[in-house]
Amino acid sequence: MHRNDKTRQKKRERPGVKSLRRWLTQWLAALAFLGLGVVCSVIYFATTMSFVERQNTTLWQYKKIIQHLIEEVATQGDIETLRHKLDDFFFGRFDLRLELALHGERTTFPKGAITERSEQLRSVDFQVPARWLSDGVMHVTLALDTSADATMLTRLAWTLFASALGGTLLVSYCGARLVRHSLEPVNELAAQAKQLVPERLSERLDGQTQAEEFQPLIMQFNAVLERLERAYVQLEAFNADVAHELRTPLATLIGQTELALTGTRSSEDLLDFLGSNLEELQRLSGLINDMLFLAQVDRGISARAEIVNSIADLASEVLEYHEAALAENGLRGAVLGDASVAADRALLRRALSNLLSNAARYGYAGTCVTVRIGVESGKVLLSVENVGEAIPPEEIDRIFDRFYRHDVSRVHRQENNFGLGLSIVAAIARMHGGSVFAHSDSEITSVGLSLVPARRTCI
Ligand SMILES: Nc1ncnc2c1ncn2[C@@H]1O[C@H](COP(=O)(O)OP(=O)(O)OP(=O)(O)O)[C@@H](O)[C@H]1O
Ligand SMILES: [Mg+2]
Repeated sequence: MHRNDKTRQKKRERPGVKSLRRWLTQWLAALAFLGLGVVCSVIYFATTMSFVERQNTTLWQYKKIIQHLIEEVATQGDIETLRHKLDDFFFGRFDLRLELALHGERTTFPKGAITERSEQLRSVDFQVPARWLSDGVMHVTLALDTSADATMLTRLAWTLFASALGGTLLVSYCGARLVRHSLEPVNELAAQAKQLVPERLSERLDGQTQAEEFQPLIMQFNAVLERLERAYVQLEAFNADVAHELRTPLATLIGQTELALTGTRSSEDLLDFLGSNLEELQRLSGLINDMLFLAQVDRGISARAEIVNSIADLASEVLEYHEAALAENGLRGAVLGDASVAADRALLRRALSNLLSNAARYGYAGTCVTVRIGVESGKVLLSVENVGEAIPPEEIDRIFDRFYRHDVSRVHRQENNFGLGLSIVAAIARMHGGSVFAHSDSEITSVGLSLVPARRTCI
């Protein structure tokens, strides 16, 4: 790693921020020490057990020999022979000690071979039949000096401990390097992500050379970028649309005001002029209010939910309000079906009003505009249906876009229409946890929204 990288690494290690590298290395070290500790302990105890076993075997073999030597003694007079034999047997065997009780006197073989200070003894007491003794048995204690084995075990313990420690250090060092190496792709991805600037919105993270485990992360990150790009493009288009929509009425207002200021105007002319300016300004104010509403919904405000027991009643009220507009175009209105829903009444009225004003505009004279209310797959569907020119299938998904107005509407377009009505319907549906839908087929167009039924609504 370069020096710069190290400095960057240090800067990144902020207090309170967990370092994955440190965490993994520490765990590797702990596990290595534990694992090696267990192995070393097993080795130590297995060695101790085999030493003990060997000592017991040795003692057993010597016990048999001593028994044999004592049993060979037939009479009192053979005691001296026994002493000689035992002296010969124990000559130079400083790791062994034998104690016999002969006529109440304890005799040791070999003499002074093992001092009390250095003694680490494993001993065995036994009796040998001896008819020539007054009590008929001889009491014998045979002991084996195990201090050499003990020293060896101590050395083994230290060696194993040092090996475990050394092994742990080695595993920690290699583990740290391995972890650093395996996390390098993250740095590479971070470097790639750093290159992603708004000017290069279409670029994505390149995951081709990355490990399989990073693929879900890269995919999700790229999906987020995709959504961001779409939102960014929409925002840019929205800004351009807003500027475009404001430019024409403002230019009209400025032109009219300049005209009014040139020459002398009668007070009636000025009143007319002010009246038309007020209309234009009210239209602009409506546009700005709609945009503000959409901006608030984008920021995530939710609807104030109350139980609307009968959507049909609410729809009839809104239909009544649009009666004049419908009648003007030779249309009739009707409400079919009913359901209850938890929703904000005012917002629901607004959505329905937008749908009805479209239907009133695009419905053929002499036909009927129907407000349909129904429940399907656990959702309340509220739609407005009219008979009129169909929306082309390739355009149907775009009608909910902000400022979208299809060509077909040009015939009907009035200056008052900005193309925000259905995006407001979509926003209202979103605020209630629902969605919008539109079908247009053989002159029947149905546009509406789905809502969550009253009992399941959690807004
Ligand atoms: N019932 C319908 N029949 C045919 N086309 C429709 C219908 N409803 C909507 N559209 C199309 O969808 C477009 C967008 O509708 P929307 O309500 O968003 O805007 P608008 O009615 O043009 O303007 P605004 O609602 O802001 O006054 C319309 O311009 C029209 O082309
Ligand atoms: Mg509309």
